[in-house]
Amino acid sequence: MCGIIGISSNKPVSANIISSLKKLEYRGYDSAGIATLFEGEIKEVKSEGRVDTLEQNFDLKNLKGNIGIGHVRWATHGVPNSVNAHPHSSHNVSVVHNGIIENSTILKKYLATKGHIFKSQTDTEVIVYLITENLKTDELEEAITKTLKQLHGSFALGIVFKDIPDLIVGARRGSPLAVGYGPNENYLGSDSYALKSMTNKITYLDDGEFCIIKKDQVLFFNEDGKKINKKILELSSDEASYEKGDFKHFMAKEIEEQPNTIETGIKEYIDKTNSEINIYNFPWNINEINSITLIGCGTAYHSCLMAKYWFEELTQIDISIDIASEFRYRKNRFKKDNLYIFVSQSGETADTYAALDLCKKNNMKTCAVVNVIESSIARDANFVLPIHCGPEIGVASTKAFLGQILILYILALKLGSLRNEINQETFKDKIKDLQNLPSLIEKSLLIDNDIQAISSTFNEAKGSMFLGRGFSYPIALEGALKLKELSYVHAEGYPAGEMKHGPLALIEDGMPVVVLAPRDSYYKKTISNMQEVIARGAKVLLITNKSKDEIVSENIWETIEVENTNDDLLPFLLTIPLQKLAYYSALKKGYDIDKPRNLAKSVTVE
Ligand code: F6R
Repeated sequence: MCGIIGISSNKPVSANIISSLKKLEYRGYDSAGIATLFEGEIKEVKSEGRVDTLEQNFDLKNLKGNIGIGHVRWATHGVPNSVNAHPHSSHNVSVVHNGIIENSTILKKYLATKGHIFKSQTDTEVIVYLITENLKTDELEEAITKTLKQLHGSFALGIVFKDIPDLIVGARRGSPLAVGYGPNENYLGSDSYALKSMTNKITYLDDGEFCIIKKDQVLFFNEDGKKINKKILELSSDEASYEKGDFKHFMAKEIEEQPNTIETGIKEYIDKTNSEINIYNFPWNINEINSITLIGCGTAYHSCLMAKYWFEELTQIDISIDIASEFRYRKNRFKKDNLYIFVSQSGETADTYAALDLCKKNNMKTCAVVNVIESSIARDANFVLPIHCGPEIGVASTKAFLGQILILYILALKLGSLRNEINQETFKDKIKDLQNLPSLIEKSLLIDNDIQAISSTFNEAKGSMFLGRGFSYPIALEGALKLKELSYVHAEGYPAGEMKHGPLALIEDGMPVVVLAPRDSYYKKTISNMQEVIARGAKVLLITNKSKDEIVSENIWETIEVENTNDDLLPFLLTIPLQKLAYYSALKKGYDIDKPRNLAKSVTVE
């Protein structure tokens, strides 16, 4: 993770570096730093904490120099403090780094024999001294090529040099890096978002490549140091999506945007006139696919689990799901008739990307369900299904989750229909129901007062549990994840029927337990499980859908009713109160909702 920015210009760069670093904080925010070149010297400032703290600690407006690099960190090697903050510099070279150097221990030993004294606990410092050493004997391009070959692991780098003061070097292996083009200046950035206020002309580096950026020229090289040409892409401008507007937090904005997320997804994929699903250019014959594996991390993994239930309901295809960090190292049995679907908001998650890469190396069919369409996962998969939900800035995923499950649901419906595994009448009915979903989500969002009152109980408790069966089980996992990542309280998601096999022992007097029991085919079973936890003292928050039937249970602490729709679509509505519960719990505690501790939005390390 970590965010990198670099600017080579004909005017001072520090102000633009600072504003870009603020945008990059979603990638890491435990420390920040900048290095500029001025009057033949490297000027370096860095401190623990946010970019705001860096601004408070240093007079950055007076940090001179027309060339500079900046960094926001998410610690991997060494605690977050100002010494471990990037940039790291020798007398001649200054480096910002995103990723992990796996052979840093061996390289440290080698570099110590050359007289280099390490100041930090980071793996990055080895890069600084390796380049410094290689520049003693080689010209710039050879020195960079040689250094990159000496490094094992993943990285994106930005490098400036005291003795070559008119350029920045950028390099990529495994971690994303983009180059931007402006008037009399050029840029390096971890992603287009950081560069968008300065340019919409972008080139993405591919793995193994490096670049040399001057104010009026950009050169690209392959891993052997040979010059290559690369395409310039023009990005559309959607700056407004990057602002909070009237909302206190991006997360609040993104939760409220969900009717729009679903509306857009429907517009993109559903032909309302013919009640049909448009998935164009699907590259395989549908009969060639007999099984599907869905792979993701965190919330995206929960989307995969949700999709498994729908695919099993709507198709006869064998479905398996996997956590990317497990999949990538297991002895997988690759099958030609299997489709591998990679789900990721950012499209840059290192484990998901590695799982995709593994499938590609084994010549498998790969499909990406992503939000960021310029991302590595989107670019490398055989086929892409974008979720079109706009930038998601809050670290906790909300609208991207609904966007992912919508597209996966639509795909399940389409495959079921193409394979004649659901009848056309049911298919058309389900498409019709889908079109009402945005307005149902809108109504289900109107629960703030109820949720605010309830959220204190979750904050005060030692821990809480989230239970569901069937379609509601993935949502229970997602609700627990949201609460723990935002409020730092222990929360476990469980299949309601599994409680009696151990976790029931955790239930004690007053423990808050969320039970997701919509009136679907699992309802009665879930209500029985709910009674079992109530009998042991749990304070149950029941989340169900509106119905004229009475709830047949006593001693429920609180009930929240979402709107009513067909069973398939209830998971969308059940998600809303859980997102709001996590939001208000964190708000009451005064925590940093958009940037929870220890986390980052784009997880580009494994
Ligand atoms: C949780 C959350 C994470 C991400 C996970 C995968 O709220 O946001 O669990 O879902 O890190 O990220 P992407 O979807 O970018 O691959």
